[in-house]
Amino acid sequence: MRKVVLVTGASSGIGLALCKRLLAEDNELYLCLACRNTGKAEAVRATLLACYPTAEVTTVQVDVSNLQSVFEACKELKQRKAIHMFSTAEGLLTQQDRVTADGLQEVFATNIFGHFILIRELEPLLCHSYNPSQLIWTSSRNARKSNFSLEDIQHRKGQEPYSSSKYATDLLNVALNRHFNQQGLYSSVICPGTVLTNLTYGILPPFLWTLLMPVIWLLRFFANSFTLTPYNGTEALIWLFHQKPESLNPLIKYLSATTGFGSNYVTVEKMDIDEDTAERFYQNLLELEKRVRVNTTQKSDHQS
Ligand SMILES: NC(=O)c1ccc[n+]([C@@H]2O[C@H](COP(=O)([O-])OP(=O)(O)OC[C@H]3O[C@@H](n4cnc5c(N)ncnc54)[C@H](OP(=O)(O)O)[C@@H]3O)[C@@H](O)[C@H]2O)c1
Repeated sequence: MRKVVLVTGASSGIGLALCKRLLAEDNELYLCLACRNTGKAEAVRATLLACYPTAEVTTVQVDVSNLQSVFEACKELKQRKAIHMFSTAEGLLTQQDRVTADGLQEVFATNIFGHFILIRELEPLLCHSYNPSQLIWTSSRNARKSNFSLEDIQHRKGQEPYSSSKYATDLLNVALNRHFNQQGLYSSVICPGTVLTNLTYGILPPFLWTLLMPVIWLLRFFANSFTLTPYNGTEALIWLFHQKPESLNPLIKYLSATTGFGSNYVTVEKMDIDEDTAERFYQNLLELEKRVRVNTTQKSDHQS
């Protein structure tokens, strides 16, 4: 049976590199590119199919920071009976935050909540104990417990929305395993390391990264997290793709790493998470889901 993989953020950076590596490993894959920009998605699809003509590559339009768009994408995916999975920074990395049209904090909506709704909507397709499904979240080494609060899960009041959203990703991963493993759905988290992508170019412009490169190459001999290229950053994703999800420890984060000589490998880190907080966060997400579903229905009724 063909494996089915859905990659969010497939139009560039780590998501795009992941698509290329997955097809290089399995050119019969059914790959669905979930992108907000259809033009970019089609261009990526054409490039991938030129190299892997036997693969089945489709696209679905989704802006994960916009819940209406997430619901529509799920509806379409269910209709197509296509499915499954994930992906859409580090130490220095922060993201500008603002409020979306759904009234949610954008970083929270993009990194966590849009994906949470995606999973909830696709539950019937993902949950079957006879054929396990695997969710893989691109978290970060920058997920910090101290930046997350159960009282402010969207991080409306803090200054570290990125780190908070990544810690929330780790919590959700633990809760999803607890609730869904028996139904054949398994979740894992990875960190791609520091990778030069549009995200990191948001911190420093490309020319500054180029100037810093000699120092970064040297640093690589002391810190294995400077993976630098999107290809290297996908190492942990590809490694997980080969594992039996049932055999993985949900409290472990898998980290892409690169040696000073440029070899890639995967290392692990025990996450600083307690299961009680993970469960309370999950219940908060279910509550928020109820509220946004009511709002989204009201909005659609109003528009029709
Ligand atoms: N780069 C790093 O050093 C680093 C380190 C740790 C973790 N990560 C994580 O790795 C993941 C991928 O990041 P990257 O470095 O590859 O960044 P990137 O090159 O900026 O790629 C981000 C991707 O996400 C898509 N995207 C952003 N907002 C979206 C939305 N609202 N709806 C749908 N798609 C959206 C972008 O689509 P468009 O093409 O339409 O913009 C793009 O395909 C992120 O979760 C990031 O936090 C990265």
